[in-house]
Amino acid sequence: MADVKYVCDQDILCGVRVPKDLKTMTELEQKHVPVITAPDKVTRGETFLVTVEVGKYKTHPNEPAHFIEWVELYSGDTFLLRISLAGSLSDPKVTVPVRLTHAHGPLKAWAKCNMHGLWEGLKDIAIED
Ligand SMILES: [Fe+2]
Repeated sequence: MADVKYVCDQDILCGVRVPKDLKTMTELEQKHVPVITAPDKVTRGETFLVTVEVGKYKTHPNEPAHFIEWVELYSGDTFLLRISLAGSLSDPKVTVPVRLTHAHGPLKAWAKCNMHGLWEGLKDIAIED
């Protein structure tokens, strides 16, 4: 994770949380960072699958009082989709078809935990014409 985001250490619901170092993540970071699986390179206009999973490194609770509310996916800052999750009735892992026509930048996922706020994961992707 190259980007350093502003976070208010006084309130976990403030800002977007990004692990400082993927190799030394805290347990909280391991449970919340959305992990993106996608090809390293695609052709512009080609449809490909993107998987976003929360809790890949350490399982996140998935119960009525503590769950991942939704996942959003972007290409750079271009919004692609939002998927709402139903807590204990749906796992925090989604796979969706994506087709990039004019978007640029790395794939970016945001995941919202109802107790621990907003978390970001990134994945570089090359888009060839
Ligand atoms: Fe959480």
